Amino acid sequence: MSQVISNTTNAATHKHLKLGLFGFGCVGQGLYHVLNETHGIKADIKKICVKNRDKQRILESAIFTYDKNDILQDPEIDVVVELIDDAKAAFEIVKAALQNGKHVVTANKRMIAENLEELYHLQLKHNRSVLYEGSVCGSIPILRNLEEYYDNDLITSIEGIFNGSTNYILTKVFEEKKSYTEALKGAQDLGFAESDPSLDVKAFDPKFKLTIAIAHTFGVFLKPEEIINIGIQKISPVDLKYARDHGLTIKLIARAYKLNGKIFGFVAPQFVPADHMLASVRNEYNAVLVEGAFAEKQVFIGKGAGGYPTGSAVLSDISALSYDYRYEYKKFAQGDGLPFSNDAQVDVIVSFPQGASVSSKEFENFKGGYQGNGYQYMTGSARLEKIKEWNDRDDVSVILAPELNLVSLDKSKKELQYA
Ligand code: HSE
Repeated sequence: MSQVISNTTNAATHKHLKLGLFGFGCVGQGLYHVLNETHGIKADIKKICVKNRDKQRILESAIFTYDKNDILQDPEIDVVVELIDDAKAAFEIVKAALQNGKHVVTANKRMIAENLEELYHLQLKHNRSVLYEGSVCGSIPILRNLEEYYDNDLITSIEGIFNGSTNYILTKVFEEKKSYTEALKGAQDLGFAESDPSLDVKAFDPKFKLTIAIAHTFGVFLKPEEIINIGIQKISPVDLKYARDHGLTIKLIARAYKLNGKIFGFVAPQFVPADHMLASVRNEYNAVLVEGAFAEKQVFIGKGAGGYPTGSAVLSDISALSYDYRYEYKKFAQGDGLPFSNDAQVDVIVSFPQGASVSSKEFENFKGGYQGNGYQYMTGSARLEKIKEWNDRDDVSVILAPELNLVSLDKSKKELQYA
C-alpha cells in the first residue's frame, strides 16, 4: 500500500508536478494504477478529495480529505485533477483551481461541454491550462491531434462512435442476442455507463463529446442543447431484424461536417453496412473518423470507456503539463467563424407499431413504406427538426439510413433556384 505515487526518472527538463485529485471512482483509481505503473512521469498525488466517508478505500486514509480547500489552497499543488461525477460541482472546482493558479486536468465531458467558451476565457485570464483529452472517446488521442496535427482548416468532417456503453450494448444485443436490459446492466457492471445511464442511451454523453470535438475541429463554441441527439433506447427487435436481413449493423454515430459555409452536427443511430469503417468497432471501443480535404479519411480506434483507458488519457494530459502544454484553440483563433445550423435533411428509416400515426407527408422526400410483424416502416428524407420531433415520441424509432444523403437546406434551395 503506498501513500504517494512517485515517478522520478523523466528528463530533467520536465517539471515535477504535485497533483491534487478530486474523486476516486473508476477513472480516479484507474489513474492511480496507471501512474503507479508508468515510469518516466514526474508526478506525485499529494491529496485525494472524496465525498463519501464510509466507502472502503484501496489506499490509507491519510491521503484522503473531505475538504476541497486542502487541495485548492495548498500552494504546493500545481495541478488539480478533477474526476468527479457532478458537472456543476466540477466546474466550481475548476474555476477555483484556476483562480488559485493551478492547472487542471479533467475528463468531465458534461462540465467541459456546458462551459467550454467560459473555460477558454478563464484559461487566458489566469494564464493556466485546462486539459481534457480523456473527456472525448477515452483513450483515443483525438483532441491534441485536432489541435496539433490537424492544425489547419482543412477538415471537412469528423464522425464516429463516441460512447462506449451504447456500443457495448449494441454489440451484445446484435452478436449475442442479449436483451437490451441485460446488455445495459453489463455496461453498468463494467463501469462504462454513466451513473445516470440515460445520458448514455439517450445520446447526451456523446453529444457532450461532440460539442467539445466541434470546438477543436471547426473552432465553434456551441452549447450542447444546440445539437440534436437521438438515442438507442427505442431500437426495437424489428429494427434489429431489419438490420440483419439487410446485412447491416446499427451504430450510434456522432458527426459534424462543414457544408455550404456552415457547420452541421448531430448524434443518432445509423444502419451501417458491414464493410463500413465503423462497423467492426465493437464493445466499449470508440472510433473517430476524420476526413480532410486532402488527407481524406483517417480513423482512430481505441477504448472509449473504463478506468484504465481513460486514466491513460488523463495521465497523458498530466505529462503534457510537465512541459507546459496548453490548447491554443487554433481553429477558433484562425477565426473561420462558420455558423452552426440544424437546417439540414438526412435519409432515415422510421419504424413504429401499426396503428401509430406517422404520415408520409412528414417527410421532405418520402421513398416508401411497408408493414410486417405488427410494425410499419417508412423511409425517406426528413429535416433534422422533424427527426427530433419523432424522437420525442415514445412510439417512434428513428434510425439514419445507411446512405445519409446529407443535404443542407440552403444548398437545396439554391440548387432549386438555379435549376
Ligand atoms: N459513459 C461513457 C461511455 C464513459 O460509455 O462512453 C466514457 O466517457
